[in-house]
Amino acid sequence: MSGRLNGKVAIVTGGALGFGEGIVIKFVQEGALVVIVDLHKENGERVLASQPRGTAIFVQGDVSSEQDWEKVRDTTLSRFGKIDIVVNNAGIVNSAISSLELTEKEFDRLCRVNIKSLYFSARVIAPCIQKQSTGGAFINISSMSALRPRPNLVWYAATKGAASAATKGLAAELAQDNIRCNAICPVAGETAMIPLVLGKPDTPENRAKILSGIPLGRFATPADIANAACFLASDEANFITGVELPI
Ligand SMILES: NC(=O)c1ccc[n+]([C@@H]2O[C@H](COP(=O)([O-])OP(=O)(O)OC[C@H]3O[C@@H](n4cnc5c(N)ncnc54)[C@H](O)[C@@H]3O)[C@@H](O)[C@H]2O)c1
Repeated sequence: MSGRLNGKVAIVTGGALGFGEGIVIKFVQEGALVVIVDLHKENGERVLASQPRGTAIFVQGDVSSEQDWEKVRDTTLSRFGKIDIVVNNAGIVNSAISSLELTEKEFDRLCRVNIKSLYFSARVIAPCIQKQSTGGAFINISSMSALRPRPNLVWYAATKGAASAATKGLAAELAQDNIRCNAICPVAGETAMIPLVLGKPDTPENRAKILSGIPLGRFATPADIANAACFLASDEANFITGVELPI
């Protein structure tokens, strides 16, 4: 354990799978106490059980619910006494489809989970960090599609554009409290999202089309995203705020 996050308390949403699971593992390895927040109880408990006893807790919750954010805040404070880091990682993507055909219901669901969650995380958690007067860090998992939108995932990209804009705006607004806000913009990752991003059968040929647009020629792994999140959460990044970091 190298301890780059020693003594810090981190909330990681969507921590039960994919990038979020990688972030939980890395943060615990680096000495943080981690609150795993996820809708999926079984996976949340699985990730919790894989961590050393006492280093993490699991709170089942929906990031698009303000009440659930209040539950996360109250549970974190009563269990660990403070909050230093929030990684807003939970997010959803629609199955790739013409932008003119996405239903209003799907559009609303994308906005609720990918944007409203950030609004609630700021409203509910930032005041606690302000009160602690110790500073803190928000890390929002945006997407490469915020920087470089492609056909068929346009409304998803729009929610990630909003996530990036919110991150930069909050960075400016919360800097006076030494609360840093940064976004990570991953390329396509090797997670459960792949079949949806493809929008067609998950075949080597269809994967190759996506890979041809990724300079390093492979999908992002949870460890890639976790390493970047760890850096941005750590004191090594204590003069970095308002960036969108493409991974
Ligand atoms: N995988 C990719 O290709 C990719 C690329 C760029 C950005 N991203 C972003 O990275 C983040 C993580 O993606 P992933 O690929 O690891 O996803 P994933 O589907 O593998 O895991 C997402 C996790 O979030 C949880 N979750 C979903 N909705 C939730 C809600 N309302 N409340 C609480 N938990 C919820 C799920 O239960 C799941 O455990 C997302 O924000 C996604 O948009 C992913």
